[in-house]
Amino acid sequence: MLLILAALWAMLATLALSAPLSSSPLPPSQDPWYTAPLGFETAPPGAVLRLRCAPGNITTIFTSNSAAYSVLYRTTDSRYQPSWAVTTLLIPKQTNGSALLSYQIPYSSVDIDAVPSFALYNPAFTGTPPIYSDIQSALSLGWYVNIPDFETHTASFGVGITEGHATLDSVRAVLNAGFDLAADARYALWGYSGGSIASEWAAELQAQSAPELSFAGAAIGGTVPNVTTILTGAPGQWWAGLLPEALLGFTIEYPAARDYLLSQLKLTGPYNRTGFLVAENFGVEQAFAVYATQPLFEYFVNGYESLLAPVLQDIYKNNGYMGYHGIPQMPLYFYKATHDEIASIEAVDELVSRYCDVGGNVLYERDSIGGHLAEEINGDASAFRFLQSVLGGTYNHTGCTVRDVALNITDSPL
Ligand SMILES: *[C@@H]1O[C@H](CO)[C@@H](O)[C@H](O)[C@H]1NC(C)=O
Ligand SMILES: *[C@@H]1O[C@H](CO)[C@@H](O)[C@H](O)[C@H]1NC(C)=O
Ligand SMILES: *[C@@H]1O[C@H](CO)[C@@H](O)[C@H](O)[C@H]1NC(C)=O
Ligand SMILES: *[C@@H]1O[C@H](CO)[C@@H](O)[C@H](O)[C@H]1NC(C)=O
Ligand SMILES: *[C@@H]1O[C@H](CO)[C@@H](O)[C@H](O)[C@H]1NC(C)=O
Ligand SMILES: *[C@@H]1O[C@H](CO)[C@@H](O)[C@H](O)[C@H]1NC(C)=O
Repeated sequence: MLLILAALWAMLATLALSAPLSSSPLPPSQDPWYTAPLGFETAPPGAVLRLRCAPGNITTIFTSNSAAYSVLYRTTDSRYQPSWAVTTLLIPKQTNGSALLSYQIPYSSVDIDAVPSFALYNPAFTGTPPIYSDIQSALSLGWYVNIPDFETHTASFGVGITEGHATLDSVRAVLNAGFDLAADARYALWGYSGGSIASEWAAELQAQSAPELSFAGAAIGGTVPNVTTILTGAPGQWWAGLLPEALLGFTIEYPAARDYLLSQLKLTGPYNRTGFLVAENFGVEQAFAVYATQPLFEYFVNGYESLLAPVLQDIYKNNGYMGYHGIPQMPLYFYKATHDEIASIEAVDELVSRYCDVGGNVLYERDSIGGHLAEEINGDASAFRFLQSVLGGTYNHTGCTVRDVALNITDSPL
């Protein structure tokens, strides 16, 4: 029944493909295409609700793709209520349709116009290594590349269940619509940092939420197993802007928590509600630039204590701790800088041993060189090799391997 419904939605959505297209992309906040059709709630998770050729010049930006589609699909939020999101699918120029990479980009912002489906047109965004080269390399190997706006239309940055569901449902949507992928195509997940949140939660939730899917693997880098550590450690760090983005992201789906958060923000003084809420309009780079030097706990009437209220703790507990929502059923590759300054490596050690203890297939590489941003570059080639191997059907690692490596493309401490 679900499949029939999904097929029906896909058919209706395909009809819409013939509708006139705008030639240059509009920001999602101004583009009526970014709304769910009436009655979308009754469609099953992963049903295609709208489909269009991606507007603008995306096929000239990524020179190894012949076509690009925007897909609006049904998903489920962290309260298990119907929701929807958009993904971008890039089709390689030369392909036999045997592989699909779901690439979760760390956009880490509650600004709805910061989503990849729009930001991909912005050279400053795709120019941030290794985003552009990862996508190009994947396409040039003949892989389809799926790039979901996994925070969904609500921009729920950091909300694990929402992001996991949206990632799984984006893969379902692509498989439902087909796009000439082989029936036995392999598919895998890849995400670093903010992208690792979506990828890891997708891997955790898959058995429960998308049991018919069978991922070939998931590469998860620079991950954040316990979100409270980023709240505690933020002030004075270059990445401090993640604190306002995360608190706003966490409370988007939880009105009582949002009301509480607003009640805790000071109304006067240099660190007040206005200065905190402008983060709603910041992409992650701008949030980094603005908040890096600020005493962030000064925004709150009770300082850091304000962030410990039960109404927020409930959200952290439901959506902020990895390793409690299921056991990933696919081979996992974790990579992390031992000196990662955003989220400690100990938390990843614990997460990995949790999965290893219950029979997970895990390869975990701890890189002694560089910090969080450096590892995104240093670990990139290893992650890519893992993905080549799982998508090519040659991956033969079993059990659990934890090893220390020293990858030095850059030894930047950040
Ligand atoms: C694509 O269009 C955007 C504006 O929408 C522009 O900034 C960018 O440079 C263009 N890229 C290419 C490769 O044409
Ligand atoms: C499809 O292409 C991949 C990568 O080039 C190759 O490994 C695979 O054997 C091909 N599959 C088929 C069915 O031709
Ligand atoms: C998360 O980290 C906090 C410290 O910031 C700790 O108190 C808490 O027990 C941790 N929770 C989990 C589930 O690991
Ligand atoms: C709030 O903070 C901003 C700086 O972010 C400042 O310009 C403004 O005057 C402050 N408002 C009040 C009422 O203190
Ligand atoms: C596993 O794969 C690697 C690389 O593809 C190969 O060198 C190795 O011999 C394989 N091991 C087994 C046990 O098949
Ligand atoms: C990394 O490589 C650079 C350039 O080769 C070198 O100067 C640096 O000492 C290396 N860093 C470490 C930690 O090995």
